[in-house]
Amino acid sequence: MTGAPSGPARARWAGLFDTELPLVAAPMAGGTSTPALVSAVASAGGFGFLAAGYKTPDAVAAELAELRGTAGDAIGVNLFVPGRDDITEAEFRRYARELAAEGAPYGLDLAHAPLVVDDDHWRDKLDLLLAAPVPVVSFTFGLPDPATVRALRRAGSRVLVTVTTVPEARAAHDLGVDGLVAQSTEAGAHSGTHDPRRPLSPTTAERLTVEVVAATGLPVVAAGGVDGAGRVRRLLAEGASAVMVGTLLLRTDESGTSQVHKDALADPARTGTVLTRAFTGRPARGLRNGFIDRHEATAPFGYPAIHHLTRGLRVAAVRANDPDRVHLWAGTGYRQARTGPAAEAVAALSAAL
Ligand SMILES: Cc1cc2nc3c(=O)[nH]c(=O)nc-3n(C[C@H](O)[C@H](O)[C@H](O)COP(=O)(O)O)c2cc1C
Repeated sequence: MTGAPSGPARARWAGLFDTELPLVAAPMAGGTSTPALVSAVASAGGFGFLAAGYKTPDAVAAELAELRGTAGDAIGVNLFVPGRDDITEAEFRRYARELAAEGAPYGLDLAHAPLVVDDDHWRDKLDLLLAAPVPVVSFTFGLPDPATVRALRRAGSRVLVTVTTVPEARAAHDLGVDGLVAQSTEAGAHSGTHDPRRPLSPTTAERLTVEVVAATGLPVVAAGGVDGAGRVRRLLAEGASAVMVGTLLLRTDESGTSQVHKDALADPARTGTVLTRAFTGRPARGLRNGFIDRHEATAPFGYPAIHHLTRGLRVAAVRANDPDRVHLWAGTGYRQARTGPAAEAVAALSAAL
């Protein structure tokens, strides 16, 4: 089944999601996508993603165990595809020295921080998902290898890949995936671009959805900048099989977003969102703040090395309630993010579907 819903019953949206509504809670790593958030969205008729990014495989297993009782078939898991990180030691050291003054108030010696590159426990997380399959597995930051896609599908999971351009969509299609998440540059947090150094061309979720559907014929989940029910209806009318929301869930009761981040999203003095690599070495959209203003022009590419470099600073800034040094991820629709139960956000988004 594709396109707009024809009745209230549970449907399998384009063969991807067994849910009442064609609405998907985005995977949001860094603490936002709690099991409670995923479960609340699933109970409200949507589909919820756990974010495996940055977690240990044991932590992912524990969250899945918690969810299996409450969210039924309406859960997926999202993984970061490890990329090549070609930052040089010299570039890394230069930026580490530049950030020294940011860490000093918190007693952090960023100038001498080690250069850390890891694969986010890639193999162990895949093994976990092969041993205990979930209905949907999604990938971002690149393409998994064909054997991984085949193994997950054989295990009974549907496989999605996030794409940000038509060439990425074609490459994902050729892998034999079940569907695509088309993420526009309006989206909050990291761009799923497969090539972080390629300058991002601004696009809308509508335009990208139309282009990706036309290029691949695959079911497409539209993502980026959703700010209400009108946008959801428009994206479904443009050919999306379902719509993914992240930012609109950030302030909900079940979201694990830090209080300093939640408060910043509601602060009328914030002047909007920008794309930045200053925090992690990979382009991401967030509320503009002092850290971005001080470092964007000189920040290198180099994920996850820069993510690891600034991580302790960001944790300390959250504890100190210092929004100027926190990565305040937000999509362009952030002014519509409301407090209250996630079920209310889902109900508001699905009005008149
Ligand atoms: C705080 C935050 C964390 C995110 N973490 C992930 C992640 O771990 N994996 C992923 O594929 N996308 C992640 N995203 C991006 C979402 O999947 C999605 O593309 C985006 O939220 C859609 O745009 P919107 O925020 O404007 O609704 C994150 C988004 C936010 C806001």
